Amino acid sequence: MTTAVHEIRITSMDEAKEVYRHKEMRQALYDAGQIVMADVLVNLHADEHRSRRRLENRLFRRETLVHYERDLFPSVIEQTLEPHVAAGRAEIVELSHQLMMNLAALNAGVDRSTGTTEETARLYAQMMKFIEGATLAHTTRDIAEVEAEITESMAAFDREFLAPSIARRQALLDAVASGVASEADLPLDVLTVLLRNEDSLQLPHDVIVREISFFLLAGAHTSATAFVRTLHNLFQWSALHPEDVELIRSDRSFVQKAVYETIRLNPSSPTGMRWALVDITLKSGRHIPKGTRVIIDLNTINRDPAVFGADADVFDPRRVPLVEGAAPWGLSFGQGMHACIGQELAAGLLERTADTAEYEYGLVSVAVQSMIDRGVCPDPSDSAVMDASTTRPYWGRYPVLFT
Ligand code: HEM
Repeated sequence: MTTAVHEIRITSMDEAKEVYRHKEMRQALYDAGQIVMADVLVNLHADEHRSRRRLENRLFRRETLVHYERDLFPSVIEQTLEPHVAAGRAEIVELSHQLMMNLAALNAGVDRSTGTTEETARLYAQMMKFIEGATLAHTTRDIAEVEAEITESMAAFDREFLAPSIARRQALLDAVASGVASEADLPLDVLTVLLRNEDSLQLPHDVIVREISFFLLAGAHTSATAFVRTLHNLFQWSALHPEDVELIRSDRSFVQKAVYETIRLNPSSPTGMRWALVDITLKSGRHIPKGTRVIIDLNTINRDPAVFGADADVFDPRRVPLVEGAAPWGLSFGQGMHACIGQELAAGLLERTADTAEYEYGLVSVAVQSMIDRGVCPDPSDSAVMDASTTRPYWGRYPVLFT
């Protein structure tokens, strides 16, 4: 007999922040996705989480992120877009996942030995299976069937991509240790950080496989969906505000604000979720008994009129939060111990706090801007449709033209 789980739904920004930051609130969002997500960073708790996060934080330093954005990403974007631009059209749901996968592979440390289209297509198919695994709770398909496909994809990913990526990095690390190579020869990616393991964590191979799969999917899927939705919002904004068309073309910080606004309105997951490990009383006086599943309702919190204005439901790249300290993306990057490690990589720096010499727009903005620079517009003869295979609001197909 199963006992009903006691649930509490949080709809205020202050309570949500307190839940996210509370040390006795444990991750609950990915309980159904263990096949991909067991023992990965976002599912760890307390000391185990702290030590893995400290190790991986080494990669996400400002100078590394600026190097990615300025030196590495532009050529990956150019190469990925080029065949589509040459064809004059693209379907951007798939294109965005290809693009963001190419960028996420660089960050995660997944090499491709031949660089052929077929090889990239295999990695793409595997990554799409990992995404299905991470969002298993929302699938409309048979769960056992999906799990079998994911297990197979993970084994293939390990064989074809991860094992050779590990071997190459291990050889480089050995060469650095023996003085034959220098630090500068080491790739700047999560896999190298894990193998180098300066904090002496003992991570078994199967955990490394899932951790790198997770970085690949977390980096690619969230950014890909934000990319498609931002373009959609900008298409609609341009139609309603023709006076802003030139601004969208020429002002990168306007596009960056459009990304923030899109992420506020469409967080990558509509809810955050935690288990209360002990009885907890929030500052508001709300009591949360031990064992409660706490649902953080991001859609409601991110659309709170008291924080984002009376028209908080509407996309407006010029929006400035009414409340001091509220982020323009709301709580869409989480807070506290699990706050998104890729936030700065994906969304860049906030103009008002940034040092301009090191300013980053974030990979979603840079990628969206690259499409605008190439004259993207919706294909008037082939309308976009939603994805019917999930209960989440994702676009299924979004055809565009390059004019
Ligand atoms: C638009 C882009 C993105 C959004 C909206 C987003 C959102 C989030 C959210 C809400 C969390 C917290 C989950 C929780 O507390 O339950 C998170 C965590 C995480 N994100 Fe992102 N993310 C984005 C991009 C990225 C990128 C590009 C990477 C790749 C580096 C990434 C890697 C991670 C990782 C590894 C965690 C777990 C952190 C931890 O548990 O310590 N994310 N993300």
